Amino acid sequence: MWFLIIDSMLSEVIALSDPVVARKEDIPAMIKLSSQVFKTDMGGCFPLLFSPENVENMTVVREAGRPVTMVGMLPKEISVFGHRLKAGLIGAVCTHPDYRGRDYGAKALAMSEKMAIEKGISLFIISGKRGLYNRFGAVEPDGFYKLKVLPGKASRVKEASEEDLSKIAWLYMGRSVRYFRDLSQFRRVFATGRVMVRAAKTFISDKAYVTVIKFRGSNYIVEHAGCESDVIEAARGYLQLSGEKECVLVLDGLFLSQEREKTDFEGTMKVISIENFLDQLEGYYREVMTDGEFEAFREKASKMTPAEFTRLVLLESNIKGSPIPLPVYGFDYI
Ligand SMILES: CC(C)(COP(=O)(O)OP(=O)(O)OC[C@H]1O[C@@H](n2cnc3c(N)ncnc32)[C@H](O)[C@@H]1OP(=O)(O)O)[C@@H](O)C(=O)NCCC(=O)NCCS
Repeated sequence: MWFLIIDSMLSEVIALSDPVVARKEDIPAMIKLSSQVFKTDMGGCFPLLFSPENVENMTVVREAGRPVTMVGMLPKEISVFGHRLKAGLIGAVCTHPDYRGRDYGAKALAMSEKMAIEKGISLFIISGKRGLYNRFGAVEPDGFYKLKVLPGKASRVKEASEEDLSKIAWLYMGRSVRYFRDLSQFRRVFATGRVMVRAAKTFISDKAYVTVIKFRGSNYIVEHAGCESDVIEAARGYLQLSGEKECVLVLDGLFLSQEREKTDFEGTMKVISIENFLDQLEGYYREVMTDGEFEAFREKASKMTPAEFTRLVLLESNIKGSPIPLPVYGFDYI
């Protein structure tokens, strides 16, 4: 009797299909669900996302005891010229085909957002461009470029192995806008041999490295580090070694080649907490604005919704410091 009363009280508070924080026991089912939906081995591709240490950042909706919707989130810090921005990388978002269109995706995303704000995260970086994300307030950020590289003056490169990881990490640390990476975690990602769900190879010279994937018949350098001329020569070194005729370098806004062209980012982004964002990047804005300008900016921000503020800092070009420079995904793609 008591059991029945408590049970009915509980189900009024938490409807069975409300999103909840995932548990360690959900990991195999989440890998199975997302692997079925994305038709690839998601556990193999994303060892950090689907790890027991990260499971408390994942949201699921369960039906009959098993996850039918999931939103993957991996917290990651970004260096914006040394200022630390807390991001939540969102990926592996899926609903089992039998349960789609019930708002489970939107509800799970909203719960991830709430949880992330409590953890001090300010920006969601989402690997997808669906209506689900537009309705959530995410936008396709500006400030990303590509550059076609043809054969020419090249440096000697070799294919990098795990032994080269410290040098790769060291070169990557020289970038002024980048993800902070823990070497042992990076080792696990590198060992998958995949970046952005595709087979990846890294080629390293004395002064630079490039990481290449094939996508729709073209070769894309989805991560690189080193100074600009050394990166281009390493890219040509890769062309020489592989016999390929051309490749495309995917760039953030700080690679100032004249021949670069604008390109889309592989996903969408949303500032989920204006307060967290301005706390974390106040130093950045104070480097590009006077005190008076920063106070006016903060005042303006206080009257905005997160979706409006997102557009201001990721799309506007007539505000100092905007669009804010952010790194390409590279090995951090989720
Ligand atoms: C995207 C996805 C996670 C949405 O899950 P959901 O639980 O149905 O989410 P909601 O009900 O909150 O969202 C409605 C979305 O589902 C679509 N939808 C509604 N009913 C549907 C149905 N019966 N079957 C398929 N899709 C349906 C809506 O058109 C809307 O799509 P949009 O985001 O392109 O606008 C789910 O469709 C899915 O797993 N798709 C395949 C994987 C994928 O594309 N993931 C996103 C990474 S880019």
